[in-house]
Amino acid sequence: MSYRKKLILALDVSSEDRALEIVDMLSDYVDIFKVGFELFSGAGFSVIEKIHKRGKRVFLDLKFHDIPNTVSRAASLITQLGVYMFNLHASGGIEMMLRCREAAINTSEKIGIPVPKIIAVTVLTSLTSEILKEELSIAHGVKGHVKTLASLAKRAGLDGVVASCHEIGLIKKACGADFIVVTPGIRPSWTPPDDQQRTATPREAIRQGADYLVMGRGILRHPEPLKAVELVSIEMLTG
Ligand code: C5P
Repeated sequence: MSYRKKLILALDVSSEDRALEIVDMLSDYVDIFKVGFELFSGAGFSVIEKIHKRGKRVFLDLKFHDIPNTVSRAASLITQLGVYMFNLHASGGIEMMLRCREAAINTSEKIGIPVPKIIAVTVLTSLTSEILKEELSIAHGVKGHVKTLASLAKRAGLDGVVASCHEIGLIKKACGADFIVVTPGIRPSWTPPDDQQRTATPREAIRQGADYLVMGRGILRHPEPLKAVELVSIEMLTG
């Protein structure tokens, strides 16, 4: 897979105009754009349609976490938008994930479009084992918890998970090489960690076997975002 197919650009801005400006600017380098809470709250669904009209794919990152009925109904609506990928929290449990997948498959079949890839968030890359233990009373650490949640997502028939670079090996071992790992927390040498804790460079993520790298600030806060994408792509290609 070429680097273009592996790099997901996080459109973490609040207006549709700015988001589309970024899509147009990086169009030659990026095929998948991520619409998350910020942009979705600021611009709504219409931005997704406009990204699609530009021939690009959308990863809708709304991280669903609710009762199975609510999540499956939302999944059905999201599927109708024709997004390439969307996500939910594995910690919502297996029933929530199963119902979500079923809704996405049924809706896709009904309207004759490809089934979106459904990806489960394991442990956010902004969390550490200490935070899990001290704030959430989860004692078995990040790696143990990621493995538990990834295995649950696999059992529910989902396509893969979101996890940091540091857990890719254990996920592939537990769930198989085809089970997709989407990796945020990517920090090239020129970027500060910001609020991310379990970070890695683009090269490390590729070496560990990441299927997709999600990058936001490392590219968008660079004085020359195009230059930043070029540098990241070189790292990914020469990994
Ligand atoms: O700016 P940065 O590269 O840290 O952005 C990472 C993006 O990936 C953000 O949009 C964030 O919401 C998203 N993300 C994440 N950790 C997850 C899931 C998604 O950082 N576990």
